[in-house]
Amino acid sequence: MLDVQAAAANPPVIRREDYRKPDWLMPDVFLDFALDPARTIVTGRLDVTRNGDHGRPLRLHGDGITPLRVLIDGESQADAWRMDGPDLVIDLPRDAHVVETQVALCPEANSQLMGLYASGGNLCTQCEPEGFRRMVFFIDRPDVLSRYTVRMDADKARFPVLLSNGDLTGSGDLDANGKEGGRHWAEWTDPFPKPSYLFALVAANLAVNVDHFTTRSGKAVKLAIWVAESDLPKTGHAMAALKASMAWDEKVYGLEYDLGEYNIVAVHDFNFGAMENKSLNVFNSRYILADPDTATDIDYDGVSGVVAHEYFHNWSGNRVTCRDWFQLSLKEGFTVFRDQSFTADQGSAAVKRIEDVRLLRAAQFQEDAGPLAHPIRPESYMEVSNFYTATVYNKGAEIIRMLHTILGPQKFRAGSDLYFARHDGTAATCEDFVVAMEDASGIDLTQFRLWYSQAGTPRVRATLSHEPAGGRALLTLEQTVPPTPGQPEKKPMPLPLRIALFGERSQRKFEEERLVILDGDRCEILFEGIAERPVLSINRGFSAPVVIDSDRSAADLAFLSAHDDDPFARYEAMQQLMVDTLIGAVTAGRADHGPVIDAARNALTDPRLDSAFIGETMLLPSEAFIGDQMAVVDPVAIHKAREALRRDLGEALEDEWRDAYERTRANRFELSPQAKGARRLRSIALGFIMASGAEDGPQLALRQFMDADNMTDRQGAFGILANSMTPERDVAVAAFYDRFRDNGLVMDKWFSTQAFSIRPDTLDRVEELVRHPDFTLSNPNRLRSVVGAMSGNQLIFHEAGGRGYRFLADMLLKVDALNPQTAAKLVPPLGRWRRFDEGRAALMKAELQRLLDAPGLSKDMFEQVSKSLG
Ligand code: TRP
Ligand code: ZN
Repeated sequence: MLDVQAAAANPPVIRREDYRKPDWLMPDVFLDFALDPARTIVTGRLDVTRNGDHGRPLRLHGDGITPLRVLIDGESQADAWRMDGPDLVIDLPRDAHVVETQVALCPEANSQLMGLYASGGNLCTQCEPEGFRRMVFFIDRPDVLSRYTVRMDADKARFPVLLSNGDLTGSGDLDANGKEGGRHWAEWTDPFPKPSYLFALVAANLAVNVDHFTTRSGKAVKLAIWVAESDLPKTGHAMAALKASMAWDEKVYGLEYDLGEYNIVAVHDFNFGAMENKSLNVFNSRYILADPDTATDIDYDGVSGVVAHEYFHNWSGNRVTCRDWFQLSLKEGFTVFRDQSFTADQGSAAVKRIEDVRLLRAAQFQEDAGPLAHPIRPESYMEVSNFYTATVYNKGAEIIRMLHTILGPQKFRAGSDLYFARHDGTAATCEDFVVAMEDASGIDLTQFRLWYSQAGTPRVRATLSHEPAGGRALLTLEQTVPPTPGQPEKKPMPLPLRIALFGERSQRKFEEERLVILDGDRCEILFEGIAERPVLSINRGFSAPVVIDSDRSAADLAFLSAHDDDPFARYEAMQQLMVDTLIGAVTAGRADHGPVIDAARNALTDPRLDSAFIGETMLLPSEAFIGDQMAVVDPVAIHKAREALRRDLGEALEDEWRDAYERTRANRFELSPQAKGARRLRSIALGFIMASGAEDGPQLALRQFMDADNMTDRQGAFGILANSMTPERDVAVAAFYDRFRDNGLVMDKWFSTQAFSIRPDTLDRVEELVRHPDFTLSNPNRLRSVVGAMSGNQLIFHEAGGRGYRFLADMLLKVDALNPQTAAKLVPPLGRWRRFDEGRAALMKAELQRLLDAPGLSKDMFEQVSKSLG
């Protein structure tokens, strides 16, 4: 049944420094899949060639498969091969041989969703990082590139669509008379050599949305998005995003698509967001399907962002791939940077930057400050799947962004041109990328390489002094990089900081913004001609992924939130003002909400600001982010302080909120940035009206919920109601369920909204939700919508008795038996125990220990749990 639950105790540690080039290569491979959900026979025929002068045998990776047959140059030579654990080892006398193996798989029993599996009655594959070896004995490492020919056959009625990478080079019916129940076959050939992790195969009963794109050089590309027939109307946004991405990559990076067709298949059961398999992307359906009635504006942005991300991988990932998995950020950091830049160019760059930084701080800063901290290019791992992290992806993107800032756009482009020209068709390293940037720009990046090897978020202390008589201001910057696991001592990093000074009285900026690269422990910067008291604007645009400590007063921050000309810095000043206010309330027990209220009134009534930006500015910092700023996190005090600020903002500005609520009312649904901004502000305003305690709040929310002609307004009201102890909440929960019970993606929202609720009975409700007939552990989206949401709910997860911790650990044990990769991703909230009081820390550790002691724990979980215990 479960074919993997390898003994986890002390799985081997793989080290970057141990990299060796492959002993054997496989220039050409032929695969045959006789497909059936219960029993699929896979045959692999590999042309293997010795790589270098050595006598070592051929080692083919396997994982949970046993050979039905092994042929060496067409003959069964039983004494030439043996199993070594999961691998097949073959002694080969000459430098070139043909090795053929055959195995049987049961895709419908594959609950890990790695390798060949069934989802919604269709068959698909997921190979990255090491899923290919669950289907075929193979040299399953990214630096072995092969040309693939793939033949498959399947029941024609059940699986009318047969897809793989590259071009269709043959197809037909197996039964000449085409009788019912007959099988058909297809053959696909991919002309581009690729590593096994980019292989894909799909056999499905799906409908298709077809469109076309003509590349800059005039090549016609057929674009196809495959979904269930009834979902076809929801594929328009994804298709538009794909075409926009193709045009953008030509314009901004000079990169064209290279095959005649581009297929995207949406599946409901998927461990991640999507997968960039060459010319056959497989997507989690949540990143393809969107229409106004079922998708929020955030969902729409998720679709275009992920479609772009996977498309951009065709160059940053596929044409140039990774030498080994330690280089993962080479493709992921760069590709995230590329998709972020694309989205910024499509809509509001300021709002996009604010959202990206919020995500970085929520996910990556926490990771960098905890027991799982690692550099963007890790030095070791037990299970590589655990390294698809916010650090590798999002901090990785910040590293590329800093290169872009330091080199400037032209030199950065020259560097990327050189990188693609030099390494096209090969498996490269992060070092290759940096060298290309260095060679093209002439800029020495020796110290910059520390960003690849040192973990931890640098802190910068900024002190500004002013000497009015001489008209001089002196800015002192000091950096420290905190210790992280295995890295007690750190070297100073090069930090590109965009800096400006504003005159408090004149409200104008002194001189142009400067780009300062703080590359030592300390530096001083002199500003001249500063006649009046200056206010410091630093790390504008979030030019470096660091924490800034400065002693700017509430008045200074309020000033910047109103007058800074960098939109990110304006947002940041408001956030800092809120954080300082809340920390004051939590630690000193004293809350002066006046400055925040004044600054908020300013923003709400500033005619120069658009709704989207106002909405961003008004979002209270998350409870987790406030906790990150404290020596010991007190989740209850943080929650109370934050809700008190919300209530005061609601009461003091009730007229302004009602005005914002009215002026953002729309007559008809549109997807323009303006309309999206208005919807965002509208629901935020509703939240503050509700928080003010206004008598009509619940009714107003319920009316928005009931009358909404789109999911953004509906979900906005639903989230607010779900937090309330009102009869309107019960009405909304029931109505939402009745209307959307047949739509899995929308039901995920129904589950997650309740699991995110701050109601005191949320844990009871969560326990009910996992017993609900629509709950299942086997669908990762559904699992995350309850378990992931609950453990991100600071107040509820950290309930002092430890019930949240116990619930999470119980669920992890169940999930680990089905899908270790997805289970392991849910461990980090328990690993934050060092940040909490002794009572909570002991309870969290006890749950981690219980997990560690569980028999048959997967290696994925073992690594996360043992490291979390530290
Ligand atoms: N390479 C994919 C991306 O970033 C990520 C991915 C998809 C993945 N499926 C996976 C990573 C399974 C690990 C395991 O777009
Ligand atoms: Zn990616």
